[in-house]
Amino acid sequence: MTEKQNLISEGKAKSLFETSIANELLMVYRDDTSAFDGKKKEALSGKGSINNKFNAFIMSHLQRNGVETHFLKQTSDNESLVKRLDMLPVECVVRNIATGSLCRRLGVKEGIKFEEQPLFEFFLKDDDLGDPLINDNHIIAFKWGTADEIEQMKKITFEINKYLCKIFDDAGLILVDYKVEYGRYDGKLILGDEFTPDGCRIWDKETGESLDKDRFRKDLGDVVESYQIVAHKLGVKV
Ligand code: CDP
Repeated sequence: MTEKQNLISEGKAKSLFETSIANELLMVYRDDTSAFDGKKKEALSGKGSINNKFNAFIMSHLQRNGVETHFLKQTSDNESLVKRLDMLPVECVVRNIATGSLCRRLGVKEGIKFEEQPLFEFFLKDDDLGDPLINDNHIIAFKWGTADEIEQMKKITFEINKYLCKIFDDAGLILVDYKVEYGRYDGKLILGDEFTPDGCRIWDKETGESLDKDRFRKDLGDVVESYQIVAHKLGVKV
């Protein structure tokens, strides 16, 4: 087990610690679960461990396909070692099917499929403001990122979508939408944060059942059990 040093940030579901190596951090996945900008909270036993393993599986798959990520290695049941990034304060949301906030915001029908090209949206990472929708110009005007970084985020995110849609589809699942975040490392922009069922929507291809954090948002129960079903179908060792 890698030794934790100073706590540098405590998010809603993960804590980040310094290690004895300056540019390596330990990411600790907790059981805490939150939704609606932190207004709904609960600890779900076993969630930290499954998310850590799920994330390790997805990040490793992306790396094998040439997508650079901050993930270095899983060091325990609920901890992983990552590269220290200078994170951009923006969230990239990719949608293959319309649902959630998109439908509320634009009054469009649930279930519209974006077959030609997935829908890509930027949000500002700010819970107090409810993570507002922003565009490329906001990012440049407020220096949250450069024009080149915006292009990089779009390019890498579309690549990620291609690789992930395939493995979910092969596993009998639909990757409906998700959020990714990027950070700077050694002059480059690379994938940071996590990819877990906490930050995406996954539906069963046959039944249409939600197997992600919507189960928590909508009080459907069996949250961790559903994450386990997805992990099992994808071949994640839990
Ligand atoms: O989840 P909600 O309906 O509020 O927002 P959304 O814009 O429909 O979310 C799109 C996707 O991004 C979902 O899979 C969310 O779980 C994910 N997301 C996230 O993980 N973190 C955020 N701060 C916002 C969205």
